[in-house]
Amino acid sequence: MISFNDSHYRNIGDLRVAPISLGTVKLGRNSNVKYPKPFDLPSREQTNKLLSVAQDLGINLIDTAPAYGSSELRIGELLKGRRQDWLISTKVGEIYEGDSSYDFSASHVTSSIHNSLEQLRTDYLDIVLIHCSDDDLNDLKKTDAIAEILKLQTQGYIRYVGASTKSLSGSLFALAAMDVAMVEADELNELDKAVTHGPLMIKKALQSGHSKNFSEGIRSVLSYSQVSTVVVGTINEKHLVENVASAIDAV
Ligand SMILES: NC(=O)c1ccc[n+]([C@@H]2O[C@H](COP(=O)([O-])OP(=O)(O)OC[C@H]3O[C@@H](n4cnc5c(N)ncnc54)[C@H](OP(=O)(O)O)[C@@H]3O)[C@@H](O)[C@H]2O)c1
Repeated sequence: MISFNDSHYRNIGDLRVAPISLGTVKLGRNSNVKYPKPFDLPSREQTNKLLSVAQDLGINLIDTAPAYGSSELRIGELLKGRRQDWLISTKVGEIYEGDSSYDFSASHVTSSIHNSLEQLRTDYLDIVLIHCSDDDLNDLKKTDAIAEILKLQTQGYIRYVGASTKSLSGSLFALAAMDVAMVEADELNELDKAVTHGPLMIKKALQSGHSKNFSEGIRSVLSYSQVSTVVVGTINEKHLVENVASAIDAV
């Protein structure tokens, strides 16, 4: 099977990350999502197999969030005893209970991070992103979220902090204040013009499955040197292999 080699990995701080990461909305949530077709959540066996295939391909980062339904819980169960094999990125601020709401207060940020540690069965998180609403600049500038996650980083619960943003100004603000930003692929051209050095994690590079050319979607995103990894959401092993092949072609 194909696999990333050492020369393909990129940095987020000191973390060496494969150009493709595993996005896990589809592991834990199938309501109020924007994918082209309805789907069943994969079984424990299917998910375990997906993680094994991902690992064999050289993928080493899993991206999750409390807002992705049972995703954190399921990943925690499956990675039990295999924590050292994976980097874990999660988020804070969005709450999903049939509908999304947001809480960026210091008390919510702290309780949410401790809950993520428990669900994921670990005592530290490699990356935590503030899970911004459409008003990302307000979330970052006018709430206690940044101060609180920086405090948790100092306390050793988190290695790298950042935000998953919705706008160019939100992304630029996040990169100035923290270590990393997760941005939509469509924003890359503007960020590039703004001479942003990243590091960037990319979401929705395949337009949540609506893309007409999946391979080109991955290749074009990885042509930007600021991009550390493309977080691709898939529960299909064959697609995972295709996506890694496209990435190897590009890097
Ligand atoms: N922080 C945020 O606000 C935020 C928002 C959205 C997403 N994210 C993160 O970014 C990740 C990616 O976003 P996303 O899941 O919305 O969208 P995406 O990665 O652009 O697209 C995922 C969709 O594309 C399909 N797909 C993947 N590879 C394919 C291939 N080679 N051929 C055909 N179809 C393919 C998947 O279906 P199959 O399962 O059938 O492969 C899935 O339906 C998420 O999982 C999440 O971790 C974060």
